[in-house]
Amino acid sequence: MGEGPGHDEDVQGIPFVGRAGQLLTQMIKAMGLSRDDVYIANVVKCRPPENRTPEKDEIATCLPFLLRQLTNINPKVIVCLGSVAAQALLNTNKSISHFRGQWIDFRGAKLIATYHPAYLLRNPHAKPEVWADLKKVMVLLGLTPHKEKRA
Ligand code: URA
Repeated sequence: MGEGPGHDEDVQGIPFVGRAGQLLTQMIKAMGLSRDDVYIANVVKCRPPENRTPEKDEIATCLPFLLRQLTNINPKVIVCLGSVAAQALLNTNKSISHFRGQWIDFRGAKLIATYHPAYLLRNPHAKPEVWADLKKVMVLLGLTPHKEKRA
C-alpha cells in the first residue's frame, strides 16, 4: 500500500512503475513473490500536484475507495509503505517510527508498516530495517527468500 501515483504512474495508470516502483518490484521478488502475487494500491488515487504529500482532505476523499478495495481483496497481510499509507489506514498522526515493523490487527488482516521505497532510494542505509520487516511478512506467509539462479 503506497501513498499516491507519481508522474509515471499517472501516465501509465498503474501503481509503482517509476523508480520507487522498480525497487518495490525487487523487494517483492526478494520475498520469493512476483507483482502478480500481490495487490498494489495507493491511498490517494490522483497524483498530487508536484508530487507533494497528499492533504488530509484528499486522503479522506480517497479512503472509502481504498477501504472498498481492501474489502474486495480481503488480504491476509497489508504492508504499508511509508507514513502516509500507515497513518491513513491506522487513522493516526503518530510517526511511522512508533509502529514500524510491528504487527497490528486491521479489519481481520495483519498490517505492518515499513519505509517507502522512495525513502530507501534516498536513504539506502535503511534497507536492512525494511528487509527485517519483509522477513516478518515472509514468516507469516510461510515464504522463503528468492535465490538468484546460478548458471
Ligand atoms: N509512490 C507511491 O506511493 N505510489 C506509487 O504508485 C508510486 C510512487
